[in-house]
Amino acid sequence: MAKNNKKSEIEQLKAEVERLKKEIKKKKKYGLVWEPKIEDVVELCKQKLPVLKEIKNKEIITDKNKPVNLLIEGDNYHALSVLNYTHAAKIDVIYIDPPYNTGNKDFKYNDMYVDLEDSYRHSKWLSFMEKRLKLAKFLLKDKGVIFISIDDNEYAPLKILCDQIFLEKNYIGTIVRRRRQSQANLSKNLSVIHEYVICYARSDKSELRRIPPVINNADFKNPDKDPRGSYVTMPCSNKGGAVYEIITPTGKKYVDEWRFTEETYKSLLKDKRIVFPKKGEGKPRYKLFLREKKEEGVIPNSWWDDVASNQEATRELKDLFNGKLLFNNPKPVELMKQIINLVIDKDGIVLDFFAGSGTTGEAVLNLNKDGGNRKFVICSDDKDNNGGELKIVSDICYPRIKKVIEGYKNLKSKKVKGLGGNLKYFRTNFVDYEEPTDRNKIKLTEQATEMLCVKEGAFELIEENKKFKIFRDTTHYTGIIFDQIAIPAFKKAIKDIKGKFSVYIFSLGDETFDEEFKDVKQKVKLSPIPEAILRVYRRIFK
Ligand SMILES: C[S@@+](CC[C@H](N)C(=O)[O-])C[C@H]1O[C@@H](n2cnc3c(N)ncnc32)[C@H](O)[C@@H]1O
Repeated sequence: MAKNNKKSEIEQLKAEVERLKKEIKKKKKYGLVWEPKIEDVVELCKQKLPVLKEIKNKEIITDKNKPVNLLIEGDNYHALSVLNYTHAAKIDVIYIDPPYNTGNKDFKYNDMYVDLEDSYRHSKWLSFMEKRLKLAKFLLKDKGVIFISIDDNEYAPLKILCDQIFLEKNYIGTIVRRRRQSQANLSKNLSVIHEYVICYARSDKSELRRIPPVINNADFKNPDKDPRGSYVTMPCSNKGGAVYEIITPTGKKYVDEWRFTEETYKSLLKDKRIVFPKKGEGKPRYKLFLREKKEEGVIPNSWWDDVASNQEATRELKDLFNGKLLFNNPKPVELMKQIINLVIDKDGIVLDFFAGSGTTGEAVLNLNKDGGNRKFVICSDDKDNNGGELKIVSDICYPRIKKVIEGYKNLKSKKVKGLGGNLKYFRTNFVDYEEPTDRNKIKLTEQATEMLCVKEGAFELIEENKKFKIFRDTTHYTGIIFDQIAIPAFKKAIKDIKGKFSVYIFSLGDETFDEEFKDVKQKVKLSPIPEAILRVYRRIFK
C-alpha cells in the first residue's frame, strides 16, 4: 500500500515537472517585456474601417509632369493601415522622428500627455511604437530601409523592439548625430549634444549607397598629362599584404608586403597606373584618379557631427514663418537630405509618418532640384503643437509645404522662389463596419475611391457616372465599377482608349467577372473590391 502511494506521488511529481517545463517554454527567455496598453485609435478599428477623404481645396498642382506627393492628416495608426493597402512593399525609405517620451508634453497616449510620474510610460510608448512599426514594415520594398530618430530616453528599448520587428540580422547600425553645436546645460551630469538615428534594412537585399568623399581638389595633380585626369599617388606597400618581388624600370628590386596581388599589380602596371617616385626608382605607388574616387564614393560614417544641428533647423523653420517659432525641435532639412540620399538616387518614395512640421517633405522637394522624381508621403495628426494653440498640419506642416512649392518671402523680406511640385491632401475617414454585411461592403466600396486612386497614383478623373469612374495618370488608367451591371457600359467607354487599365469591380465575394472581360483580357487587370481591401484589414485588425 505504502509502496503504491509512493509510486503515485512520484508520478504526480513527474507530471508537475512536465507541466512546469511547458510553462517555462511558454515564457519569454530573452527580449523586451512590457505591459500592453489598450489604445483607443486601435480599438476604433474593430467597429470602423479607415479610408481616405481628399480635401480638394488643399490640393497644390504646379506641374502635371512632376510626381504627386501625399499629405495624410490623421492618426498614423489609421494612415499606416490605409497605406498597407495602397503602398504595400512600395516604399524605399521610411524616416520617422517619433515622440522621444521625455515626459515633457511630447507624447500623447489616448489623448493624454504621458508624464514622468506615469509608471506605465515606457509600456505605453512601446505599445504605441510596436503597432506602428509592425504596420510600417509591410510598406518597405525588399530593398527599403527605415531610419528612426531617438535619444537616450528610449534608445535601448527601441533598439530591442526593432530587433524583434525588423530582425537583428537587418540592423544596419546607429548613426550618432551631433544635435547641437553649443554646450547643453540641461542635465546635471552630462552636456548631451548628440542623439541617434537607428537604421534597419527590410531584407538582405537592402544596401546603403556610398556617399561622395570629402576631397581636397588641390591634392590631385596631373604632371604626366594622363588623359584620365588628375590623380594622387598612394603607396603600393601594405603591411600584411601579398609578398613578391617588384623590379623597377631601372632594374632595382624590392621584396615587400604589397597591397595588390601580383596579378593585379601586373595589370595596373600595364594600365600605366603605377609610378616610381624617383625617376624610375623608389618603391612603386599607384595612381588614384579624382574622377574614380568621386564615382566610387565612401561608406558613410556612423558619426555625423557636421550635418546641420537642431538649432539650424529652428532657424530654417522661422525663416518660413516671419521669424515666428511655430514648432519645437524640427529636424534640419540637410539631415533629411543626407538620410534620403543614403538609399535612393533620383527616384523613389519616402515616407514619414511622424511628419510634424514637414521637414521630410521639404527635403524631398529640395532634392528634386536635380531633376529627380522622388516622391513623399507624409502623415501627421492635426493636434495642438506641444500644448500650444496651433494645429500641426493645418497651421504648420501644410503651409510650410505650400510655401516651399509656391515660393514665399523670407525673414529678410527677400522673395524665395518656389521649388514647384504637387501635393494632394487627404484626411483619414471611417466607414462603419462591425459586421461583413452586404450593406457595409457597399458602403466601404463607395468610400474607397480615394484609396484606389492613391494606390494607383491615378488622380485625373476622365469619366464619371453613378455606376463607374475612370481616372488617368501619365502611365495608365484606373477604372472603378460600382455595379456589375455596368460592365458593358464600362467596356464601351474604354473601347477607344489606348493603354492599360487597372479595374476595380464591386463584388460581395471575391469575384472578378473574368468571363465578361475575356475579350479585353490584355488591356485590363481586375481586382475585386472591397475584398482586396478587407483582406489587408483582416490581417491588421484581426
Ligand atoms: C518629434 S515630431 C516630428 C518632427 C519632424 N521630424 C519635423 O522635422 O518637424 C513628432 C510629430 O509626430 C506627431 N505625432 C505624434 N503621435 C502621432 C500619431 N499617433 N499620429 C500622427 N502623428 C503623430 C506629433 O504631432 C509631432 O508633430
